[in-house]
Amino acid sequence: MKPEDTEEIPSSLFDRMRKTLAPSGIPTDRRGRMRMVVDTLILHIHPTKVNSRTLRFTYTWGLGGLSALLTVILVSTGVLLEMNYTPSPPDAYLDIINLTTNVWFGSLVRNLHHWSGNLLIVAAVLHLLRVFFTGGHRPPRELNWMLGVAMLLLVLGANFTGYLLPWDELAYWAITVGTSIISYVPLVGEWLNRLLLGGPEVGAATLLNFYALHISIIPVTVVLLMSYHFWRIRKDGGLTIPKKPGEELPKKMESVTTIPYLVRPELMFAIAWLAIMFFWAMLVPAPLEGIANPLVSPNPAKAPWYFMGLQELLLHFHPVIGAVLIPGLALTSLFLLPFYDVEIKTVGVYFRSQRGRYLAIISAGLSLLISPIWVLLDEYVIHWTMWLPSWPTWISNGLVPLSILLLGIFVLTGWIAKLSRASLEERVLVIFVYLFTALVVLTVIGIFFRGPGMELFWPWMMPGH
Ligand code: HEM
Repeated sequence: MKPEDTEEIPSSLFDRMRKTLAPSGIPTDRRGRMRMVVDTLILHIHPTKVNSRTLRFTYTWGLGGLSALLTVILVSTGVLLEMNYTPSPPDAYLDIINLTTNVWFGSLVRNLHHWSGNLLIVAAVLHLLRVFFTGGHRPPRELNWMLGVAMLLLVLGANFTGYLLPWDELAYWAITVGTSIISYVPLVGEWLNRLLLGGPEVGAATLLNFYALHISIIPVTVVLLMSYHFWRIRKDGGLTIPKKPGEELPKKMESVTTIPYLVRPELMFAIAWLAIMFFWAMLVPAPLEGIANPLVSPNPAKAPWYFMGLQELLLHFHPVIGAVLIPGLALTSLFLLPFYDVEIKTVGVYFRSQRGRYLAIISAGLSLLISPIWVLLDEYVIHWTMWLPSWPTWISNGLVPLSILLLGIFVLTGWIAKLSRASLEERVLVIFVYLFTALVVLTVIGIFFRGPGMELFWPWMMPGH
């Protein structure tokens, strides 16, 4: 900027902006002013300076940023889709056909929306794992962790409600199976299910309810919570700072200006992901089957992939235990994690310590081995209801196997922890990794290894494969 391009404007707000953005004065040329407006916008989200260590890509993997980018793609493509959509059967289905065949770039926009929605679930879960593995949930970031869990639930809700909108076979039956899980909640389940469906079964009222949730209530809440999430990162003193096991952070640490040192890599990351998403959306169409037919149910009828772990649990436990108690306990423990896993000395160290790394690998390996064995045993060998015929099924096929499983997990993880002299935080890590891996195994089994009648099968032996 040349000296004649600047002028002094005596105002405290401008003075403050000038100090951070343009130390030699307010630019008067068009480009300079534009640049200043953009910079000021950026500084509404980011602080002016950040700790240089937090720029390390292999610390955050950009997963929070990717989740935010996908949300932006979802909102923009969602608005475009909405312009060609009527939320009533059978128009909904016909509109999607019309969109993909007659509307310019209609297919591309639909594919982008579909794949971004699915990737967002994966990205948000990986981001949660990153935060947990680096201790980012611990004080003072408890509230932001809980906000994150709430956002993850909303993201799942957004996906689930969007699933029904094309009104095809896949959508109709996945939502029928998915919503039936809600009715297992004791006392209020049936009522909740009816409220969501707007009647006794999935129909026109359900489509309207899901549409309202999908295009307004859930996205507005997500955007509000996300803004608060970002603001909290700043209030909590920025990101946790990466460090090596046992390292003490120096009192004075190097910081760099957000523009360009953080914004430049962020921009490159966003462009790269946009390119990947566009290529993917051009090559891989979002699924669309025949129009929904409530009279003919496909076999097997499966929930959306992200609820397959839950559906798999239901095959092994009484519904009140599988659909309500286990997910309820898991979610409560996740929400309250920052209140019982509080060691702040190791915040910023991946897996707490070198020992923590080995323990996490051992725990994941054991779960990868034991979880499928348990599924096979429960399918072919164990028959609780036959063995304990006089007991109520929620005890014989619910509390009994759950207690045995929990006891097994605690004994196993406790034994690993004792052998390795693990600390409390490392024990929490071992249990978390074990349970998360088990959820992944159940989800994979549900998606790929359950065939007609929800029987276990080898997918490559299915006729037509
Ligand atoms: C829609 C989803 C989400 C978006 C857009 C989002 C966005 C972000 C971004 C951009 C960051 C800073 C950089 C980074 O770590 O990548 C961050 C940090 C953080 N997020 Fe999220 N997040 C989401 C979901 C979650 C979830 C599911 C959790 C956990 C349950 C969570 C908890 C946190 C915490 C505690 C931090 C601070 C971590 C630290 O200081 O190291 N977020 N989030």
